[in-house]
Amino acid sequence: MDSAYMAIEDLKDSSEQLENLAGGIRRCVACRLHESRRHAVPGEGPVNAEIMVLGEGPGGKEDAAGRPFVGPAGRYLDTLLRGQGIARDRLFITNCVKCRPPNNRTPRRDELKTCTNLWLERQLELISPKVIVLLGQVAARQMLGDTATVSDLHGTTQPRNGRSYFVTYHPAAALRFDWIAATLQEDFEILGKLLARSTDSSQ
Ligand code: URA
Ligand code: SF4
Repeated sequence: MDSAYMAIEDLKDSSEQLENLAGGIRRCVACRLHESRRHAVPGEGPVNAEIMVLGEGPGGKEDAAGRPFVGPAGRYLDTLLRGQGIARDRLFITNCVKCRPPNNRTPRRDELKTCTNLWLERQLELISPKVIVLLGQVAARQMLGDTATVSDLHGTTQPRNGRSYFVTYHPAAALRFDWIAATLQEDFEILGKLLARSTDSSQ
């Protein structure tokens, strides 16, 4: 069997595994957030995505649609990505918790722990992205530890356990504060250059 054929078979196999995870997420009742959700939001994107974008948790629009970042914060994210020529459909976009917290409250520690261990870790293992973009404090603390602060780390890449994390603010915060919008724009410019460089060196 030739290796190109095997690579395609592997890709099909891991896409299927990613889809199985999504099915498990849609049925998950492992934490209290399942009680008030309309739709769990597994995330979306190809299994061979080089970039994963990690938000906090679904909001109202996402809960209604079952898809990540489709509300106002999502439109803002789309604009930032477009500005750097990054195609959204090449990323894997997901959240720390897959079900919407009631009234968009911050996810609790036990909910974050359960959901990350059950689902996010498995998505990360399958996709194995080159860089994981952490949007906001909840995602930053979940992946980098309780002392991580976005105001110190934004615009930088942080290595942890063989993975590479790029830290920035949450686009929802940029909709409230102009100074965050400006900083987020600068951070995405840094990210855009970083990605352009990593594609150059892999050719
Ligand atoms: N905010 C998030 O953190 N995630 C979404 O999917 C939408 C808004
Ligand atoms: Fe399961 Fe995560 Fe939803 Fe909790 S938030 S019910 S752990 S999918």
